Amino acid sequence: MSRPSLTAILADFAPEQAALLPILHEVQAAFGCVDAQAEAAIAAHLNLSRAEVHGVVSFYHDFTATADPRPCVELCRAEACQARGVEALVAAAEAAAGSRVRVKTVYCLGLCSSGPAARTGDTLHARLDEAALTALVTSL
Ligand code: FES
Repeated sequence: MSRPSLTAILADFAPEQAALLPILHEVQAAFGCVDAQAEAAIAAHLNLSRAEVHGVVSFYHDFTATADPRPCVELCRAEACQARGVEALVAAAEAAAGSRVRVKTVYCLGLCSSGPAARTGDTLHARLDEAALTALVTSL
């Protein structure tokens, strides 16, 4: 599947401020980041200032200014997963990841009763132990 252009993404949305977050998600998914050029184009499309768009981009951790092409494991380190032992798994995940895989901390994936939990792409992983998490990271 080819990557849509920024122009094509913007054309899918009416120039209304309510479209800002959906546009940002589309741009992040398509390009792996929302860079300064995208911020400016989005601001122009929505009749917002670049500062307003940048404020939203920098507020949410889902949006990044530069692309990171490495595969990513999002590891939940919120309270329920902490109670289920995720902190003891972090070092093993990072060791398995090395510099090849990005281990990103997130706070709740909605699997609180079956943590420790992680996400890779659109796939959720529950009840992780050290062996399962290491295997998951290594498989990417
Ligand atoms: S606290 Fe980890 S999934 Fe909710």
